[in-house]
Amino acid sequence: MAGATGLLPEAAGEELDAYLARWRQAAAGRDAVAETIAALARATAEIAALVRLGPLAGALGAAAGAANADGDIQKKLDVLANDAVLKALRACEAVAYFASEEEEEIQSLRAGGACAVAVDPLDGSSNIDANTSIGTIFSVYPASPDGATGSFFRPGSEQVAAGYAIYGPFSALVLTLGAGVDMFVLDPSGLYRRADAHMSIPRSTREYAINASNYRYWLEPVRDFIDDCIAGAEGPRAKDFNMRWLASLVGDTHRILSRGGVFLYPADKRPGYERGRLRLMYEAAPIAFLVEQAGGDATDGLTRILDKVPGALHERTPLVFGSSDKVARIVEHHADSSHARIRSPLFGKRGLFRA
Ligand code: AHG
Ligand code: MN
Ligand code: MN
Repeated sequence: MAGATGLLPEAAGEELDAYLARWRQAAAGRDAVAETIAALARATAEIAALVRLGPLAGALGAAAGAANADGDIQKKLDVLANDAVLKALRACEAVAYFASEEEEEIQSLRAGGACAVAVDPLDGSSNIDANTSIGTIFSVYPASPDGATGSFFRPGSEQVAAGYAIYGPFSALVLTLGAGVDMFVLDPSGLYRRADAHMSIPRSTREYAINASNYRYWLEPVRDFIDDCIAGAEGPRAKDFNMRWLASLVGDTHRILSRGGVFLYPADKRPGYERGRLRLMYEAAPIAFLVEQAGGDATDGLTRILDKVPGALHERTPLVFGSSDKVARIVEHHADSSHARIRSPLFGKRGLFRA
C-alpha cells in the first residue's frame, strides 16, 4: 500500500537520496525539487558537522561584526551557515533564486532554474554557545516567470516543499513534499536515513510554548489565553498545563511535531514587535506548511499563515501553531465578537470552550 507520499511501501532506514529517487520517479515534474532538496541536505550535513565541533570550530556564537537586514547581530555561524547553503544552491542547476535571513536582497543564482529557495540558515542563534538545539529552515517554491519577487511574494500555500534541519542530541532533516512529514536522521557517516513513520500532531495538548518574560507587552487575547492556562485546574480550563520555551523555533517545532503542543510568538507592544519577531517568508511559512501537513494549524491569530502574502523579504508576522484544538481556541480569543463571550463569567466559569 502506497504511503502518504504516494510512494511504494516505505522503508525505515532508507537513505534520503533513495527516497528522493523513488519520489521523483513516481510522477513527472519532480526532478528540480528533488535536486534542490538533495543540495539542501548536503549543505545541512556540512553545517551539522561544524556545529558538532562546538568550541573546537572556533567561537561560532561570537558576533560576526555586522547586523543583518532585520537588525539582528550576525553570529559567525549565521554567516558560515548562509555561505554553506548558498554554495550548495549555486552548484545546483535547479535553483534560480535564493532568499535568506542573512541577505539584504533576493539573489538570482541561475537563469532557467525551476526552483526558488528561502532559508533561515541558522535558527536559534542565541543558543549557539548554549549547546541547545539550533537548525536551518527552508522553503521551496516553483520559480515564477515573473522573476525573483514573483517567486517569493506569494501565499505560502504555493510552496512545493519545506522543512528544517535540526542540530541537536541527534541531527535530522524534517521534510514535507506536500503529502505528509518525514524525518531523516543524520547517521555517523553523514547520510540522512528515514527514521519514522510520518510525523503527526495530536489534536489536543496541555503544553504551550511562549517567552513568558514578555507578558507585560502582550495584547489582551494572548494574555487571557495564557492566564487561563496558568490558572490550571482551578481556572476556567479546569485542567493543568505545562510550559516549554527553547528560543529556537526549530526546537520548539520539533517537540510539537513529536508530541503536540501550541507555540505562540505574538505581536507585542515593544517597538519593532508590532508584528512579533518571526519572519513570514523563511520561518513562519515553511513551519506552517510542515505543521499543516502533520495535521496541525498555523495562524497569526486572525489569518491562516499559508494564506498570507509577504510584502517584503524580512516581513515579520505573529505566529501561533500546533495542536488544532488549541490554535482554534486562540483564534477564538482574537475574534473580537467572541473574545468578550469567552471571557464572560458564564463561559469563563463553565468552561464551555474546553478545547
Ligand atoms: P533566529 O536565530 O533565526 O533569529 O531565530 C530566533 C527566533 C526563533 O528561533 C525563536 O523562536 C525566537 O527567535 C526566540 O525569540 P526570543 O529570543 O525573543 O525568545
Ligand atoms: Mn530563526
Ligand atoms: Mn537565523
